Amino acid sequence: MAMKVAVAGKGGSGKTSISGTMARVLARDGHRVLAIDADSNPNLALTLGIPAERMVDMPTLPRDLLRRSEQGTELSETLEGICATHSLTAADGVTLLVMAHPQHAGTG
Ligand SMILES: Nc1ncnc2c1ncn2[C@@H]1O[C@H](COP(=O)(O)OP(=O)(O)OP(=O)(O)O)[C@@H](O)[C@H]1O
Ligand SMILES: [Mg+2]
Repeated sequence: MAMKVAVAGKGGSGKTSISGTMARVLARDGHRVLAIDADSNPNLALTLGIPAERMVDMPTLPRDLLRRSEQGTELSETLEGICATHSLTAADGVTLLVMAHPQHAGTG
């Protein structure tokens, strides 16, 4: 069974901490977990055990990933393909995708 959980809410209320903890607990229980940090100032990686030094060369998603057509919006690559080239493996085997770094934010 696949489950998608979105965590949103007030600034500083613990979203990132709870997201990272849930991801790790589920991964330890044997679930395949894909964590996506959609914050324009991403720091989920820290909660997932990735040291701050590694954050600078963190892969982020390309901007041309979404293709718009008359049928609607679709990914220009499969999720597996995106993960193969743009994800990191974090603590407890959680797969992490980071959407954007701060220097890329605010332009979309
Ligand atoms: N259950 C908790 N008990 C005590 N402190 C906590 C708890 N959860 C989070 N914190 C602390 O509160 C602060 C904010 O947490 P966190 O970064 O997870 O919030 P956030 O909602 O993601 O914030 P932002 O809106 O800035 O992204 C951090 O310093 C974190 O260590
Ligand atoms: Mg946060």
